[in-house]
Amino acid sequence: MFRRKRSSTVAMTAVTSPLEALPGGTSAASLQAAEAGLAWWTDAIIYQIYPRSFTDANGDGIGDLPGIALRLPYLKRLGVDALWLSPFYQSPQADAGYDVADYRAVDPLFGTLEDFDRLLHEAHGLGIKVIVDLVPNHSSDEHAWFQAALKSPPGSAERARYLFRDGRGANGELPPNNWQSVFGGQAWSRAPGDRQWYLHLFDSKQPDLNWDNPQVRAEFKEVLRFWLDRGVDGFRVDVAHGLVKDAELPDAEHRKENGILVGPMWDQDGVHEIYRAWRRILDEYPGERMMVAEAVVGSHSRPNYLRPDEMQQAFNFDYLLLEGWEAAAFRNVIDASLALSAAVDATTTWVTSNHDVVRAPSRYGLSRPGAHPKGIDAAGEQPDEALGLRRARALALLTLALPGSAYIYQGEELGLPEHTTLETHYRQDPMFIRTRGADIGRDGCRVPLPWEAQAPSLGFGPGDRSWLPQPAAYARYAVDRQEGVAGSTLELYRQMLQLRREHALGKGQLRWIDAGRDVLAFDNGDIRVLINFGTEPAELPAGGQVLLSSELLEEPGELPANTAVWLTGP
Ligand code: GLC
Ligand code: CA
Repeated sequence: MFRRKRSSTVAMTAVTSPLEALPGGTSAASLQAAEAGLAWWTDAIIYQIYPRSFTDANGDGIGDLPGIALRLPYLKRLGVDALWLSPFYQSPQADAGYDVADYRAVDPLFGTLEDFDRLLHEAHGLGIKVIVDLVPNHSSDEHAWFQAALKSPPGSAERARYLFRDGRGANGELPPNNWQSVFGGQAWSRAPGDRQWYLHLFDSKQPDLNWDNPQVRAEFKEVLRFWLDRGVDGFRVDVAHGLVKDAELPDAEHRKENGILVGPMWDQDGVHEIYRAWRRILDEYPGERMMVAEAVVGSHSRPNYLRPDEMQQAFNFDYLLLEGWEAAAFRNVIDASLALSAAVDATTTWVTSNHDVVRAPSRYGLSRPGAHPKGIDAAGEQPDEALGLRRARALALLTLALPGSAYIYQGEELGLPEHTTLETHYRQDPMFIRTRGADIGRDGCRVPLPWEAQAPSLGFGPGDRSWLPQPAAYARYAVDRQEGVAGSTLELYRQMLQLRREHALGKGQLRWIDAGRDVLAFDNGDIRVLINFGTEPAELPAGGQVLLSSELLEEPGELPANTAVWLTGP
């Protein structure tokens, strides 16, 4: 299997054709999907934008909607079908916008409603769909409803829209039950100056709404219509597994099963009725509007959110949270994911990064890859940057060759690592604050993007301001350092997305080929994919033509460790 190094190299080549010109409002993928009678999301590439860290148009150090509009040509060129925008609504930003004070208003930090309409219009003009984030489990404590609740007496209609309860103990000095917040500490805070407490599964500035209250249900239907009327193509539903709680609010230990929180506040049957009602609203609208669930539930439960009258997609947390770097583990999760979604006739999603977990190149640069931020700082181990990037690139060739829809988190296409050495005083994540640093939190994956290596704030904004400091290493990953550079991660992603479309991989079928313990190999249509999870080079099948490889192939016929290829032929 081992060969001596030869001087000849097989370059990373891609057999590509120039981007097809398409009529406005239609992407190549949606055309293909329409031809096959499939909805656009079936095989869509959906790019997640975290607005505060994408591009800052006005120089205040925080990314904004006009900044996103500036980058639409970049996104078009990358080849994505849709954008998912994390929240840009009016918010005190206690959880970076996942604490909404007004569901129908744009926070001035991000721009105006007109800016949003313009962005949507321009995106649609380029054939790019737009999904917005919906945060129904909780509002901000600065939402008018919660403010009214605080000013109203226990038992009032105003309080009934949230989960207020009397405290336990002689004077109500103890919380109503023992639930813990996901962000650390207890899940109840006392209403200032009275005997009641309110529930917050997240931060104390994120009071949970009472989904048994008809006004809450009615309000969110109107919120959906507000954005659907503006033309959005769908919603990413935040904490979709949390809206309904066991009515008794029984005590329950903070407990995880297979890395997933379980208990009487999660994944209750009652949530599905809510999504059925929403689905009926979406279906009233022209075009294909969709919902994707952030349902952090056991795999057996995920299909429930994907039944034909509920949501169209759910994030694949099994794939995202996979631990280790082993061929068999990936194969098992891929098989299980495809089977689970097939059972409800839904599409599978593939996700390797988002704004809540350590960026993939850093996770996979650890000796024991795991998705949790603690894997990095608490253990004191710094990721091996080169190894992590190499694995992340190989993983991208695997992920984007799988049938279904895939999500790309901003910066993933640059191979951007986590900021793992962010100083404590910069950290803003409520998770970090509530656990007093025991949990390092998620700021490290939310650092503003590098666009230009030489510019102040690396081109994130016009000046040098950036709400979180960018590590020096980010200059190497800047878009202008990668654009047009053969073999750069950005060019690799562009090629992958184009070939994925040309070969209709998202709509294909996967057929495994046995390639030994460390190598996963499969055919999808006319493409053969191989990825080497091992530490030694593996053999490439004879006669195949290399369409794309995640690294330079120095030895013909050989697939180096931590490398993936797409082949055609023989
Ligand atoms: C979701 C979001 C996360 C947020 C939490 C509370 O998990 O992805 O960023 O902190 O919900 O809204
Ligand atoms: Ca700004």
